[in-house]
Amino acid sequence: MLVRTALEALAQRPIPFLRSAWPWRSLAYLLAGAVPGLPVLGVVAAVAVTSSPAVLVAGVAVAALLTPVAGRYERWRLRLVDGVPLPDTPPEPGGDTGEPPRRGREVRVAALGGLALLVLWWIDLVMAASGAAGPVLLILSPVVQPEAEPVAAVAASAAGVLLVPVAAYTLTAWAGARGAMTRAILAPQAAELAEVLRSRARLVDAFETERRRIERDLHDGAQQRLVALTMTLGMARLDLPDDSPAARAVERAHGEAKQALAELRALVRGVHSQVLTDRGLPAAVRDVAGRSPVPVAVDLALDERLPAAVEVTAYYVVTEALANVARHSGASAARVTGGAADGALVLEIHDDGRGGADPARGTGLTGLADRLAVVGGRLSLSSPAGGPTRMRVEIPCAS
Ligand SMILES: Nc1ncnc2c1ncn2[C@@H]1O[C@H](COP(=O)(O)OP(=O)(O)O)[C@@H](O)[C@H]1O
Ligand SMILES: [Mg+2]
Repeated sequence: MLVRTALEALAQRPIPFLRSAWPWRSLAYLLAGAVPGLPVLGVVAAVAVTSSPAVLVAGVAVAALLTPVAGRYERWRLRLVDGVPLPDTPPEPGGDTGEPPRRGREVRVAALGGLALLVLWWIDLVMAASGAAGPVLLILSPVVQPEAEPVAAVAASAAGVLLVPVAAYTLTAWAGARGAMTRAILAPQAAELAEVLRSRARLVDAFETERRRIERDLHDGAQQRLVALTMTLGMARLDLPDDSPAARAVERAHGEAKQALAELRALVRGVHSQVLTDRGLPAAVRDVAGRSPVPVAVDLALDERLPAAVEVTAYYVVTEALANVARHSGASAARVTGGAADGALVLEIHDDGRGGADPARGTGLTGLADRLAVVGGRLSLSSPAGGPTRMRVEIPCAS
């Protein structure tokens, strides 16, 4: 089980949990929480010593100035109990919606800083002390109370050892809850996240429109011209005497024109699959598989047509995966399996090649992940060195 937060760590079985670093991280987190209390204590002490209203006003002003710093400190130490990155909302490249989220984030950080300075630091300190002090004092009782009966002192030590797991759970639970609270205050509101998602969807929409335009231009323009050229060359060849040098040259030109036409057709198909539009995903996948230089077995059946966005995304996944198999895997066979289950389309592409697929080394796989994210889908990849490579995608199909 992948444990990323203190709260998730609590759900582990006791022995792995107690042997993990989480109880210690939680204790460190809580102790670190006392740091914002230092300036507050300084101000309180200064006011108590001088009992001057001017010092009080200055102290409050200093505390107010410190709130953003305290907030950033809270955000920074959150990583001790929460390894999940905070969803950030960087300003958009266009800049049109960048400002409000950023201002919202600053307000949230300052609010958290204010809370930390006012109340949270001493709650953290009290929780850390009450959780850890009991077992520590009991364990050390032979040292702390040298005058006590040796048997009683040893018994107290033993009781202290027994209390350690209890303390570990208490500290981790409180630290986890504190971390969750910090995250709830810092994480952008749903509206801001939706804006980021929408901007990604806009990009993909723009890409889709452009893709259709290119497909139409290629199909209606260059492809028609190449068809005409091929036919003209074919007819010119018929008019020439068989063994003349001109006939051989025209014959070669005819062959190359046919080749160029085949390549252009393949390119247009990559941009837009007519089979997909006309006959649906299983047919289109079989079509792509049939063209692959590596033999591909297809086991994909669907009872009905899926929403267009799902079909197009799935088609891209299969074309990219099979292109990778052909280009990088050295596989002798591949297979595409899948179907619709529980309102989601699941596809698996498997090859018996050398493995080692790594999204960081190219653009294809990350591009797929981006497209999938827009339709709420997921991509997982298993490709150990030496193979095999297995790619699995899930796309929700609710139309
Ligand atoms: N099926 C595969 N078998 C082995 N290696 C692969 C496979 N798929 C991808 N890779 C490796 O992962 C890298 C990233 O793939 P990808 O993102 O599709 O980029 P690209 O295909 O543009 O190089 C590839 O460069 C290749 O080295
Ligand atoms: Mg690729």
